[in-house]
Order: sequence, then C-alpha cells, then structure tokens
Amino acid sequence: MSSSSTFLLLFFILLLSSSSFSLSANVDNDYTLKTYIVKVHYDAKPSIFPTHKHWYESSLSSSTSLIHTYDTVFHGFSARLTSSEAQQLKTLPHIIALIPEKVRHLHTTRSPQFLGLKTSDSAGLLKESDFGSDLVIAVIDTGIWPERQSFNDRDLGPVPAKWKGQCVTAKDFPSSSCNRKVIGARFFCQGYESTNGKMNETSEFRSPRDSDGHGTHTASIVAGRYVFPASTLGYARGLASGMAPKARLSVYKVCWNAGCYDSDILAAFDSAVSDGVDVVSLSVGGVVVPYYLDAIAIGAFGASDHGVFVSASAGNGGPGGLTVTNVAPWVTSVGAGTIDRDFPADVHLGNGKIVPGVSVYGGPGLGGPEKKYSLVYAGSEEGDGYSASLCLEGSLDPKYVEGKLVLCDRGINSRAAKGEVVKKAGGIGMILANGVFDGEGLVADCHLLPATAVGASGGDEIRKYISDAEKAKSPAIATIVFKGTRVNVKPAPVVASFSARGPNPESPEILKPDVIAPGLNILAAWPDKVGPSGVPSDMRRTQFNILSGTSMACPHVSGLAALLKAAHPEWSPAAIRSALMTTAYTVDNRGDTMLDESTGNTSTVLDFGAGHVHPQKAMDPGLIYDISSYDYVNFLCNSNYTVTNIKVITRRSADCKGAKRAGHVGNLNYPSLSAVFQQYGEHKMSTHFIRTVTNVGDPNSVYKVVIRPPSGTQVTVQPEKLVFRRVGQKLNFLVRVEAMAIKLSPGSSSVKSGHIMWTDGKHNVTSPLVVTMQQPL
Ligand SMILES: *[C@@H]1O[C@H](CO)[C@@H](O)[C@H](O)[C@H]1NC(C)=O
Ligand SMILES: *[C@@H]1O[C@H](CO)[C@@H](O)[C@H](O)[C@H]1NC(C)=O
Ligand SMILES: *[C@@H]1O[C@H](CO)[C@@H](O)[C@H](O)[C@H]1NC(C)=O
Ligand SMILES: *[C@@H]1O[C@H](CO)[C@@H](O)[C@H](O)[C@H]1NC(C)=O
Repeated sequence: MSSSSTFLLLFFILLLSSSSFSLSANVDNDYTLKTYIVKVHYDAKPSIFPTHKHWYESSLSSSTSLIHTYDTVFHGFSARLTSSEAQQLKTLPHIIALIPEKVRHLHTTRSPQFLGLKTSDSAGLLKESDFGSDLVIAVIDTGIWPERQSFNDRDLGPVPAKWKGQCVTAKDFPSSSCNRKVIGARFFCQGYESTNGKMNETSEFRSPRDSDGHGTHTASIVAGRYVFPASTLGYARGLASGMAPKARLSVYKVCWNAGCYDSDILAAFDSAVSDGVDVVSLSVGGVVVPYYLDAIAIGAFGASDHGVFVSASAGNGGPGGLTVTNVAPWVTSVGAGTIDRDFPADVHLGNGKIVPGVSVYGGPGLGGPEKKYSLVYAGSEEGDGYSASLCLEGSLDPKYVEGKLVLCDRGINSRAAKGEVVKKAGGIGMILANGVFDGEGLVADCHLLPATAVGASGGDEIRKYISDAEKAKSPAIATIVFKGTRVNVKPAPVVASFSARGPNPESPEILKPDVIAPGLNILAAWPDKVGPSGVPSDMRRTQFNILSGTSMACPHVSGLAALLKAAHPEWSPAAIRSALMTTAYTVDNRGDTMLDESTGNTSTVLDFGAGHVHPQKAMDPGLIYDISSYDYVNFLCNSNYTVTNIKVITRRSADCKGAKRAGHVGNLNYPSLSAVFQQYGEHKMSTHFIRTVTNVGDPNSVYKVVIRPPSGTQVTVQPEKLVFRRVGQKLNFLVRVEAMAIKLSPGSSSVKSGHIMWTDGKHNVTSPLVVTMQQPL
C-alpha cells in the first residue's frame, strides 16, 4: 500500500509540474477567466488525498480556487480558468470533460417581453390532512420570505426523520427563519460572484432570503399553507393554498440579480439530493444544448437516479415552435395554461367600440364609461418614435402626454415599468398593446397607474381610431373600465400565449412539453422587499401577488408529484410523470379541444403535450410507463451520444453496442409517442415503438386498446388486449406507424397527432401519438 501511494504521489507531482510548465509557456494566451464545471473520474482519487476537494485542488494552479465541489448528482468541481488552463486540464487522465458555465433566467413573464399576472387557487384540490407531510420539496429559485403566512408550521408534525438538510443562517436569515414547514434553506452564490464580482448587499441578501419575489411565489404554489382571506390589491380574493399544503419545503437560492449560474444550480441539485428531498422544482431555464453540456439536465439526471422527481418550467418563449426548454426525458417539462378566472379592464373608445383588456390595477379608477379622456399613441410623438412607442425611460414628452390616456407598445422594458414612465410624464393612464409576436395573449399587472393590456388586434384598432380621429380633426378620447375579478370564464383552460412549444429541439422523438398546468394570473405569496409590480419605485407592500409564466405552472406539478409520491411511495419519478401524462385532459370547460391563447385557434400536442394535469385522476392511473436509469442510458446511446458524453451525464460507463442492438431512440418507454420521418421521394415510411406498461390498478384487469391514428397514417397495436393477473405485472406491446410521403416544400414539415388509449372501462390510459414528416432541403 505504501509503495503504491508513493508511486501515485510521484505521478501527481509530475503532472503538476508539467502543467505549471505549460501554463507559463502559454503567456501570450487569453487571460480571460471563465467558469467551467469539470467532470472527473471520481473513483480514481489517489489515497494520498484525504478528500476529493484536496485532489481537485491539486489539479489546479495555486492561484485558482474551487467554486464548488460536487459529490452526489455529479462528480467533480467548478473553477475559473483561462482557456489555456482549461485546455491543460482536459489533458489530465482523471478529467472526463469541461462544461462551460451558462447563465439561466427565471421563467416568469415578469421578464421584459412576457411580464404578466395571474391568479389561481388550487385550494380544495386535496383536503388538508396529514397527506404529504413526510415529503420534502426542493425549490431551486431566488430564495424565500419565510415570515409569510403561507409558510407557517401550525399543526405540522416534527421534521421527517430522514431529513439530512440544513437551515443556513445569515445576518437577515436567523435560525428562526426555518420551522417545521421551511425545514431547509441554503444559498449558492460563488458561481455568480466569481463572474460578476461581489453582490450589492443593499439590493440583494447574501442569504436564503428572497429579494426578488419569484422564489417566494413558486414555493407557496408548491406547498403554501391555507391562507384566508388572500388577495392582491383586492383582486382574486379568496382562499390561497399550495398544491401540497402539508409537504415540507427546502429552498436553494441560486438566482441573483444577474441571473442563475450553472455552477451554482448544479451545487443546489447536489445538496438537495444529499439532503434527502423527494421532489425538485425548478422554474429556471436557458437555451437548449446537448444534455452533456447542460448543468440542469445533468443535475436532474442525478436526482432522478436517486429517485427524486424533477419538474422544470418549459419556458416562456411561445407561441413560436421549437421554443421549449428543459427537454431532457428525465425531466418533467411543464407548460402553462389559463384558469377560469380573469380580470377584465376594457377600453371604451370615443366611437363607441369596446376593446377587451385585463388588469389588476388596484388604485382609484377613472370613473364610469361616460367619462372619457384624451387618448394619444406614444409612438406618434415627434422625435424618437420607436423609444416613445415602447414608453422607454425618458422617451415621453410631458407636454404631449400630460393628463392623457397613453397607448404604449409591448416589448423591451417590463410592462409595469412602462406604466411608471407614463405616470412620471404626467399621463393619467396607460393602454398596453401586444405586438404581432405576442398575439392575443393578455397578461394583467399590478400597475402603478390606471392601466390595462390589450391584444395585438385591439392595439391595431385603437391606433386606427386615433389616426382616423386625427384625419377628421376630432379629438380621440377613451377610458378604461375596471371590472374586478371574473370567475367561471369560458373557455378554460387555454394554452397561454407565452408558453413554450414543441417540437423538442434536442430530441424530436420525445414530445415536449410533457403537460401544462395553471400558469396565468396565479395568486401566491410575495416578499416585503419588493412591490407587487416589481418596479423599484413601487412602495406598496402585499402578502400576495399575481404573476404569470411557466415558472408558476411548474410548481403546481411539483406539488402534485409530492402528493402522488405520498400516495404511492414506491413510484419512480418516471412513474409519477406517467400518471400525470396518461390522465391529462385536452378539452376545455366547454368540451372542445383546448384553444391557443395567441391565435384563438385550436391548440395541438406541440402546445400542451399530453394535456392539462388532472390531480384526482393522476392518483389512480391504472397503468404506468416506467423508466429506469438504464433505459435513459440506452436512450442516450441511441441518440448517438459518445460513451464519454454519456458518462458526463450518468456517472457510469455505458455499453452502447448492446443498446443499439436493442432498438432506437423512440423505444424509450415514454408515455407519449413521437415518430419523425424524413421524406425522400414518394414512398411509404414506417416505424415502430415498443412499450411496457405496469399494472398499478386492480390485480385482475383487462385493457383494450383504442387507436385514433393521426390523419394520413395507419397505426396498429399488438396485442390489442392486455390481460393482467396481479398488481406490478408488466406487459409489452408494439405500436406500428405507417405513413405515405406527402407533398411538402423543401425544408418544411407537417405535424399530425392522434392517440392510443388503453381502457379497462374504469381507467383510460392515454398516450399522445404525433407524426412529423420533414421534407429535406
Ligand atoms: C446597491 O444597490 C442600491 C439599491 O439598489 C443602490 O442604491 C446602490 O447604488 C448600489 N450600490 C452599488 C455599489 O452599485
Ligand atoms: C387560425 O385559424 C384560421 C382559420 O382556420 C386560419 O386562417 C389561421 O391561419 C390560423 N392561424 C394560425 C396562426 O394558425
Ligand atoms: C444515429 O446514427 C445512426 C447511424 O448513423 C443513424 O441511423 C440514426 O438515425 C442516428 N440517430 C439519431 C437519433 O440521430
Ligand atoms: C374513457 O374514454 C371514453 C372515450 O373517450 C369515455 O367515453 C369514457 O367516459 C372515459 N372513461 C373514463 C373512466 O374516463
């Protein structure tokens, strides 16, 4: 033993000296430091190093310090390196890969293009009992405002015995910030600060405390206690509660003023899993890259491998196609739908026309519909019409807007910030018009002045009215009539305009998003540090706020997953997702296929995936499509990832030869089916999917298949009947899909959808089936 240590010691001294040599030889190189996440051969640690951290430090020059080390979901560390140091590190035998740091952003529509608000209470979905109280949900976000009523621990039992996490205390986060509801709190800012320098501790807290609001909001959607009465500025008054009111929360703050850094996100996953959480909720995302370069995908794989369910927001890049993010097949990707509540605030024009709008402005109104005000379009002002049309800071001339109602266009700055600009310039109110890209999707805000949001066509109508009035030399006049909270709105749900859409840019054979959940006008807890509009000058303080985004949809699914796990402790993360997907619905409260808010047209599987989650049905799905870590490795092999790249994600060596013999990427036992055909000339194309279902319903049950083929395709399923004799029994079936090539212009594609459904009369187990035909360029 001692001789082998000596050998290794020599070996490492050699490596170290050779690396310092080449570092000094590269003096002309780029000195810009960048953060890298470094994957190592974990088991190769020489015994002379007492810990992995010592070993990692030995691979770096003495001036470089580690940002984080990772031990649970990932094996390695992060550090700031010059490109030549990074190159050098890559050549070391125990280094598998270097992943460049990326910055991610929150998925609320409060970001400039998509700011919005919503209300929902998921209250009453599941009665308050001890149900779910042993479950711990990790919220990886902007931290928490723990004093909110939503986080009280009344009547909650002791912290679950399995809990190994920690409540990290700091100046503004004493140990009393945690209780039996918020049982863990940590913050990760080393990656953020190594790129941005020290944070400004006046504008943000160096602790798990939330200075943004997003994390407090999402945490209370996941697991907020019942609070009554709850409302924002009088809107959405009622009972507020999270999806799993008894589940415990552990918060991992990774998002700061300049964004959320991958090295910190991965550290949060690493901690959360070793702390013993059951579910991770992540309402953060960025651009889609291959999974082995994606810290969220890597962290989520490690979590899933430890039996932890991960749901992530699909992103707010809709309504265009290929916008969905967080698309790894071991992540449940959640899009956003509306609920049956809205906040009408209509524009009444001088010509008698009424343009529908929405708002949660809470101050004094403008009077009745008869009292009208001068109306101007900000973009018609002399000078920089573009900045003015968007009501950017300093772009409005008070002489032009004073005492008037001002029409502004959406884009660049936040919606509430535009209201602030109009108010500062002396405007009496604001109408905010969507651009063509936003379509007809409306988001309501807690504006600082009387204001409402209208769709793209409404904006066109108002601009036309103003220019017609100008030509006729008669004054343009209008007002906004605020109508408060309206419930039982039909149709609902509708796919939110901003909700990110498929196809999946990384793995087109995996349909994403998986499901949609409420993400529009969601009422949830809000911190004291920031006003409900999010604008710095907003001095109002509210216990609750109304926000919109896939950020708000994701925690609904996270809370639901915790309830499913409480009911079915043996279910894997894939089984939980399967239950959510196969029981999801695709029709609205009129009984028609859900609409797309951006166009008013029928939406498709690329918009809503399997559909809108149905909590009660998901409790008893009948059959599930389960997936093991081994199946995901086969999927990565069949996606043609190299063995090294697979190891970056899975921490294991893969035998891809076997996997490739076993089939193709579409054979991952996913609860949805997606066939992608490349058309070459006029011919018949075909593919097949092998699936395995596990009986989780009645021991003796017989399921028959019901097929609705996508138009223009032939679909067969073999066998057509599945006879189960016991719970836990697995049966296979084969789905064959055939299609004739169709006329398509080069580079274009056609998407058709249908479904296959297994039914035993009591359970309907539905999988969407989508067929994409692509005409090569
Ligand atoms: C820190 O933030 C505060 C509040 O936003 C601001 O007034 C101050 O100028 C900032 N300080 C620095 C050094 O940026
Ligand atoms: C919406 O439907 C109408 C009528 O079917 C159609 O003309 C229009 O192109 C559709 N819009 C989109 C964006 O699909
Ligand atoms: C992987 O490579 C094989 C062989 O080149 C090819 O047939 C297959 O379509 C590829 N699969 C994917 C998912 O790219
Ligand atoms: C299953 O689906 C069929 C056909 O869509 C429907 O008639 C039936 O009511 C559904 N059954 C259940 C239990 O949801």
